[in-house]
Amino acid sequence: MSRLDKALNIEDLRKIARKKLPAPLFNYIDGGSDDESNVRGNSHAYDAVKLVPEYLVDVAKIDLSTKVLGREISMPLFLGPTGMTRLFHHDGETAVSKAAAAAGTYYSLSTVGATSIEDVAAACSGPKCFQIYVMKDRGLTHEFIQRCKDANYDSLMLTVDIPVASYRERELRYGFTLPPKLNLAGMLGFAAKPGWVYNALTHPQTKLANVAHKIPEGSSKSSSLMEYIANQFDPSVTWKDLEWMIAEWGGPFVIKGILSPADARKAVDAGVTAISVSNHGGRQLDGTLSAFEALGPMVDEVGGECEMICDGGIRRGTHVLKALARGATACSIGRPYLYGLAAGGEAGVARALQLLRDEIERDMGLLGCRSIEEIGSKHIA
Ligand code: GLV
Repeated sequence: MSRLDKALNIEDLRKIARKKLPAPLFNYIDGGSDDESNVRGNSHAYDAVKLVPEYLVDVAKIDLSTKVLGREISMPLFLGPTGMTRLFHHDGETAVSKAAAAAGTYYSLSTVGATSIEDVAAACSGPKCFQIYVMKDRGLTHEFIQRCKDANYDSLMLTVDIPVASYRERELRYGFTLPPKLNLAGMLGFAAKPGWVYNALTHPQTKLANVAHKIPEGSSKSSSLMEYIANQFDPSVTWKDLEWMIAEWGGPFVIKGILSPADARKAVDAGVTAISVSNHGGRQLDGTLSAFEALGPMVDEVGGECEMICDGGIRRGTHVLKALARGATACSIGRPYLYGLAAGGEAGVARALQLLRDEIERDMGLLGCRSIEEIGSKHIA
């Protein structure tokens, strides 16, 4: 039995990732901002709501498929965007997008990904979304939209919860930069993982593939993520820019990173297809509502007027079912697939997705639901 097959849940994959990755990189994935209370809170929030099963329902056949952002997906779970994914395994975004397609679900590529829009399109036969951060060089936003049209992306996503950089102490402690430039703690972390170092040295260097032609910082010139955000991200983005992007794109569009019913209303008025309810995996403003806590009031405000995605803290099938019962259309994940990627490349991502799919299916049977439409508010208390 391989090491990946022995992983029985996402936490097991996390443990393998921790063993394989240099400490600065593992801590970049695992960490959050300030006290990291949102990192913990996102998962713990699901514990406060209990499932209410119904029995003597024929659950011999269970259908997990659903529709989100204009595409059928094979389960109510897809892969949200994550930065610099190639750092964690040399096959990076290509491997992740292939595993997503093989699992029949959506992949989202980040502006600060390490593989280009075009290379992901060539590798990934499944549904694809491109996530936009608006840079001070506004020409890049126009360019991204055009490139995504040319490469046949299915949807675009604007992440709005990084108006300014947050304070991520683990990055400072380990001297995390892109490309890696190390302080003593960082050097020791890399020296302890010769397997990762060998692979990094024998493959092309990780760079911010979608912006490097315009912005050398972060690709040929080392930068911490916090410096990069402060120097390059545009803090003056407003709802007008969102409206412009939606019109310019003309297809399914997600706003990611809002937590209030008032912002949900503004997003619907601006014309979004979907809202990704998210606190950026606990990596931006700490001490906010968790994604799951924020979801309910937002569904009460705009439910039925747009799709709702619950993004944050998903580690179990039951978390997905609770979010669906509270009105989510689907859920998205970041860390769970990154742990899989670091643990075993494409096969590791496939393992993470298979584990979560099996849990969702098993838990639907235990809850008494045969299809995603059957999951409703009566299933939670
Ligand atoms: C990038 O989006 C990050 O949260 O590190």
